[in-house]
Amino acid sequence: MLQVEGLEAAYGESRILFGIDIAVTAGEVVTLLGRNGMGKTTTIRAIFGLLKPTGGQVLVDGEDVTGKEPHLIARHGLGLVPEGRQIFPTLTVEENLVATHRASATSRWDLAAVYGLFPRLKERRRNHGDQISGGEQQMLAIGRALMTNPRLVVLDEATEGLAPLIREEIWSCLAAIKNEGAAILVIDKNVEALSRFADRHVVIEKGRVAWTGTTEELRASPDVKDRFLHV
Ligand SMILES: Nc1ncnc2c1ncn2[C@@H]1O[C@H](COP(=O)(O)OP(=O)(O)OP(=O)(O)O)[C@@H](O)[C@H]1O
Ligand SMILES: [Mg+2]
Repeated sequence: MLQVEGLEAAYGESRILFGIDIAVTAGEVVTLLGRNGMGKTTTIRAIFGLLKPTGGQVLVDGEDVTGKEPHLIARHGLGLVPEGRQIFPTLTVEENLVATHRASATSRWDLAAVYGLFPRLKERRRNHGDQISGGEQQMLAIGRALMTNPRLVVLDEATEGLAPLIREEIWSCLAAIKNEGAAILVIDKNVEALSRFADRHVVIEKGRVAWTGTTEELRASPDVKDRFLHV
């Protein structure tokens, strides 16, 4: 469903990505791993058109969407939970969700469904985005992405800075979303937790793919974690 080929990107004069290849098929969970500053967020920004790629291609269901406007790329069924959440602080929880709602032919997600997944958000529905906890903001960011009824959900550090219990809650939600048939591309520091439901892994090192393999292959290669993931 998503095919990224030879993706290159730069911030001004400084080149960051040197040809990234990633493929995610329908219903698959793929992780994007790598140490700080290796280019994970830049890859996501280039996929979503938030940063114009300087080379390579982004295909969604075979259609070339490289460098299109972000809202047009999203319309192909891609939902983003961005690094740093970026929810609307002056809107209520419910307004944040309604603002991004997009119904599609197979519309699974609406307010009731998101509140079913995150009952805490329902309790907080009249609170403003800046009046809720970090964990609730993260749930809201995920809920907002789901409200677009994406076929592929991309999460950039969705559990960063959260308490262990809330992290677990978010990971079990990802597993539930997977079981509903959506594809997921997820960036997270906690490889162990991701390995419980991820199918494949892509490790990025200095803007290049350094390793890729299945969860079994990752488990069988402890050197991968030592070389590319641990500080
Ligand atoms: N807006 C920007 N302008 C210039 N350089 C940037 C910008 N954003 C990121 N960079 C640089 O690009 C490189 C890749 O950054 P990126 O944010 O993609 O890394 P990352 O893998 O997501 O790291 P982290 O795990 O810390 O989130 C880093 O060297 C970073 O300093
Ligand atoms: Mg990042």
